[in-house]
Order: sequence, then structure tokens, then C-alpha cells
Amino acid sequence: MSTPKQVKVVEVGPRDGLQNETISLSLDDKVNFINQLVDCGLNYVEFGAFVSPKWVPQMAQSDAVYRGIQKDPSVTYGALVPNTKGLSAALDCGVKEIAVFTAASEKFSHKNTNCSIEESLQRIELITEACQGKDVTIRGYISCVAGCPYQGSTDANQVAEIAHRLRELGCYEVSLGDTIGVGTANQFSTLIDTVAQKVPVDQLAVHCHDTYGQALTNIYAALQMGVATIDASVAGLGGCPYAKGASGNVSTEDVVYLLHGMGISTGINLEALIQCSQQICQKLERENQSKVSLAQTTSA
Ligand code: HMG
Ligand code: MG
Repeated sequence: MSTPKQVKVVEVGPRDGLQNETISLSLDDKVNFINQLVDCGLNYVEFGAFVSPKWVPQMAQSDAVYRGIQKDPSVTYGALVPNTKGLSAALDCGVKEIAVFTAASEKFSHKNTNCSIEESLQRIELITEACQGKDVTIRGYISCVAGCPYQGSTDANQVAEIAHRLRELGCYEVSLGDTIGVGTANQFSTLIDTVAQKVPVDQLAVHCHDTYGQALTNIYAALQMGVATIDASVAGLGGCPYAKGASGNVSTEDVVYLLHGMGISTGINLEALIQCSQQICQKLERENQSKVSLAQTTSA
């Protein structure tokens, strides 16, 4: 399998990033943040989540965020949807791309969505059925693909089975989430090899949190296996409120730097992205987790 010549970067900062921040941005700041990411050349931005506001209060304004952002026709604006209630809210404001999510760990599934893996797949089935005949595309996530904070290691074959189910339910792509960033490179190669026996590699993405500093290495391993969609979060924002110890995603700047260095095109303007990254860190009063942003701003 050869390394892809072009990679789609899925920017999850406005969702995975902001869902875990203590400071809640104003609606205007969220809208400006998303518009600015698009101006940097990102053509997929996950802008929010139609989840319970009691569970994740930071995502409560996702409908208003969607209504407020500029809708560039060349950009995909996605949102997490956990059940048909969330789907109705997303459809009411005109969302065209949703992401459903499940896990490869029973304990995490219960902590994150208050149901078993099987029940979450049944909820997803209801969502995908309700989307039939509507102008909506569906992406799927599997959490804890490399390990779980509550039950330890994950079986790659189980990840492959769940990925297959998500594809059968109508997800055009399955994003493999290393929720607590415990995976290592050989493990990722084996995982992708195993999952690719059930779902073609061009329908897989990787979603690496950087808790153990392994994200870029694991992404490199995934690229070598032919994966051409990488989730990332500007400034390395992120985490999951229901995964103890999970830190931010791999930073988008570091991924873009890696890809451009490998001669892989992304269409993203790295300098503009670094500016966006610095600005959002100021708003959130937090340290930038991107090595590339730190290097380029301290050396400027
Ligand atoms: P539940 O409490 O079991 O839900 O939560 P319920 O069906 O029993 O309903 C309880 C109340 O919530 C009711 O309201 C419902 O109407 C309301 P009440 O009658 O009490 O006033 N409700 C909702 N309200 C708004 N939107 C909805 C919704 N659904 C029910 N969609 C539920 C079950 C799934 C809703 C909850 O557990 C939930 O929202 N979980 C989401 C947690 C979350 O967002 N986690 C972070 C995202 S996943 C992630 O970060 C991982 C990822 O990045 C990949 C990786 O890194 O691995 C994707
Ligand atoms: Mg995540």
C-alpha cells in the first residue's frame, strides 16, 4: 500500500476541542473561529454536537452556531448526533453532514452515551433510517480503538466488526478514535490492517488524541497503510469529558507540517492556521499544544 498523494484533514477543534474547555466561547467567537478555519483552507470542519446539554454544556448552542457560520459550498460542516432527538435538531437547522459515534469498549460506551455498544448501534440504525431520502451524509466514529481508560486493551477484531456494522448502516467513512492516545505505531499498523479486511482503507480515518505523545507517529503509520483522512484539532485542543485522562487531539498545524514535508497536499495555509491557533488559545486562556505553532511564533 502506498502513501496517499492527497490527504483530507478533518478539523475537529470547534467540537472535540471546545467540548472539553472550561471557558465557554460566546456564539460570535465560535462562529468567527469556524469561519477563520475555513479561510485557512480546511474543507471539513466539525462545528458542534447535538448531544444532551446536560452531558456536554459547551455544545449547547450548536444550532445557532450552524445558522451563524458562512456556508462555503466546497466545505463540509459536520456535527455529532447521538440519537434521533439530536438528529431532528440538526436537520431543523439544515445540517447536511452528521457523525454518529460508538465505541469498542462497553464501559466507555456506558460512560459516554449511557448505553451498551449494541444499544448505541441500534440508536445509529434509527438515525440512519431517519436519514434515508434526506440530503444528509453520515460519518461514523469508533472510540477506544487502541485502549480504554476503564477496561484496558482493545481487540482489533472487535474494532473491525464495529467498523463493518457502521459501514453497513450507511456511514461513508469510519474514523478510528484513539480516545486516550495510548496506541503505538505497530499497533496502529496492525489495527488498520485488521479493520481494512472489513472496510476498505479509503473509507477509514484516524482520530488520534496525543496523551502519550504518539499521535504523529501513529498517523505516519496510518499514512503508510494508505489512510488518507486524518482528524486533527487546531492548537491540539480537545479531549473527551467522559474519558478520564484524555488530553487534546493531535494539532492540525503539526499534521499539516508533517504532510507538507512528505510532499502530500492538503490545500491548507499553514501560516494562517498558526495565527488562528494563537488567537483561539488567547480566547481560551490556555497554552498552545502545537509544537509547530510554538516553534514558529517563538522564532518569529
Ligand atoms: P440519557 O440521559 O441516557 O438520555 O443520555 P435520555 O434519552 O434518557 O434523555 C434524558 C434527557 O436528555 C431528556 O430530557 C432528553 O430529552 C434529553 P429531559 O426529559 O430530562 O428534560 N436528550 C437530549 N437533549 C438534547 N439533545 C439530545 C438529547 N438526547 C436526550 N440529543 C445521551 C443519552 C446519548 C443523550 C447522552 O449520553 C449524551 O448526550 N452523550 C454525549 C456525550 C458526548 O457528547 N461525549 C463527547 C463526544 S464523543 C467523543 O468525544 C469521542 C470522539 O471524539 C472520538 C474519540 O476521540 O474517540 C468522537
Ligand atoms: Mg476525540
